[in-house]
Amino acid sequence: MCGIIAAASNRNVGKLLVQGLHKMEYRGYDSAGIALHQLDKIAHLRTLGKVKLLEDKMIQEKPKSKLGIAHTRWATHGEPSEENAHPHKSNERVYIVHNGIIENYLELKDYLKKEGYSFTSQTDSELIAHLLDFYLNKDKTMIDSMYMTLDKLEGAYAIAAIDKEDNKNIVVARNKSPLLIGLGTDEFLAASDPLAISQLTNEFIFLEDGDVAQISADDYVIFDESKNPVDREITKIDISNQATSKGDYKHFMEKEIYEQPQAILNTIDGRVGGDDVLDNIFGLGSSELFEKVKRVQIVACGTSLHAGRVAANWFSAISELPTQIDYASEYRYRNPHVDENSLLVTISQSGETADTLAALRYAKEKEYISTLTICNVPTSSLARESDYSIFTNAGPEIGVASTKAFTTQLAALMLLALSLAKSRDKNPKLRTRVVTAMRSLSDTVQETLKLRDVILEIAPEIASKDNALFLGRGIFYPIAKEGALKLKEISYIHAEAYPAGELKHGPLALIDEDMPVIALAPESEIAEKLVSNLEEVKARGGTLYVFSDPSISMDLKAGRLINMPKCDFLLTPIIYTIPLQILSYEVALLRGTDIDQPRNLAKSVTVE
Ligand code: G6P
Repeated sequence: MCGIIAAASNRNVGKLLVQGLHKMEYRGYDSAGIALHQLDKIAHLRTLGKVKLLEDKMIQEKPKSKLGIAHTRWATHGEPSEENAHPHKSNERVYIVHNGIIENYLELKDYLKKEGYSFTSQTDSELIAHLLDFYLNKDKTMIDSMYMTLDKLEGAYAIAAIDKEDNKNIVVARNKSPLLIGLGTDEFLAASDPLAISQLTNEFIFLEDGDVAQISADDYVIFDESKNPVDREITKIDISNQATSKGDYKHFMEKEIYEQPQAILNTIDGRVGGDDVLDNIFGLGSSELFEKVKRVQIVACGTSLHAGRVAANWFSAISELPTQIDYASEYRYRNPHVDENSLLVTISQSGETADTLAALRYAKEKEYISTLTICNVPTSSLARESDYSIFTNAGPEIGVASTKAFTTQLAALMLLALSLAKSRDKNPKLRTRVVTAMRSLSDTVQETLKLRDVILEIAPEIASKDNALFLGRGIFYPIAKEGALKLKEISYIHAEAYPAGELKHGPLALIDEDMPVIALAPESEIAEKLVSNLEEVKARGGTLYVFSDPSISMDLKAGRLINMPKCDFLLTPIIYTIPLQILSYEVALLRGTDIDQPRNLAKSVTVE
């Protein structure tokens, strides 16, 4: 992961680089650093911990510069420490920031050591600075040195480099890690994410794998992997300040939970008609393609994978299609057999998750009929490399724990289930029923948010425990998994999810008064069976917190029965997600954890 940013300007850039890092902290926040060109020297500041600490150091030292690079880190090679923080340097001349992983770093380190270079960090990144220095000393230009360095590197990288001998230019390179150029006024910038520089420009150029570019305050030039100058398209993106600030909320996660009614409207808007889903909403020709689809393969990670697990049920019930689902990190390694007319579906908030991207690239070599992505970032690598796509339009999600991205993914996946069913001429009445329910989904989510008062009463009971069990059946099992993931991510309480019927095959042994059990009990054909499973918990002294349809009655000795708003059964997974998000949030708040930036995690995982 990590976030990199670079600026060449006619004004001081220190502040804007640090502001950019703040906006990319979701990519990692264990250490940060900056290198600023000051004509006769380069100011080099690094701090262990969040960007705020680097900012404090900058306020003290006030370094002035019109050209610089900066970095916020999520450790891969080497512990979080000041020595391992970027920028890395070579011979007080070359300074670099890197996002990605250099796979052949041991071999290259040995080579450079033999050439007389010594290493001050445990990272795989430092060698990039040394390689650049090595070639610069052979009278090569920085661009030539960059190409020669890239020739040696295996792995993924976005790099920005500066040279003490050149106070005008920054050279950047990209391979399999996101990197873009921002076209500012009297300045050019580079960053891992448009968010980082959205206050400075709305014009971006997304570099392609193999590209090397040079930016200065007045100009930029891009070369492709064969070193030919290329023109890359300029994309306009407007990211409002409101979308990237907390407003009156305490945390981004809280804000993003409350944004869900509008976010869901944005996902559905313009994509459903009176009684059916509209044609070709996944791209021109998608409706025709869907007629031929016989099987679906989903790959995703984390929360996005949970959305996929719910959708697999919908593809079966609504589109009558068999669906296979894999962790993106596992998919390539099981030698997957691809049936004729299988559609590959990737799901990702960021569109940059390395495992998901690698799975897509692998799948493109296989016999899939086509590839399609459900994604929140239209300019992302997944969006650009997939044949078809739909954007969830949730707006930037900053909190590391995914909330609105998940519920909007579910809404988009439901649109996919409906579109596949429509093209395949399946279940017209059911489609009309679901489309009608989708139109009031946002209102039902709004109503569900009112459960916060009840949840505030339960939260202290969960916050005082070290473990929790989440139960759901059928389409609610993935929601139970998502609830458990949310709780462990931000409150550090150990939480597991089970399909309720599996309890008796082992996990029941864990039940005692210290194991809160959170159960999802909507009205369904297996509601009675679920209630029996919950009775088993009750009989063993477990404390139950049951989110249920008002028609379900249970006499709880301890715990709480919470009535959920009514909604079409197929859409209820979206509704039942909401109280679990609020519960995790309130529990984490009570435990005093860092909710938006939980320990050891990052939002966008761009390493495999
Ligand atoms: C990280 C995030 C999760 C997210 C997962 C997949 O682990 O912390 O919240 O679900 O990556 O990310 P994606 O952007 O592909 O949905």
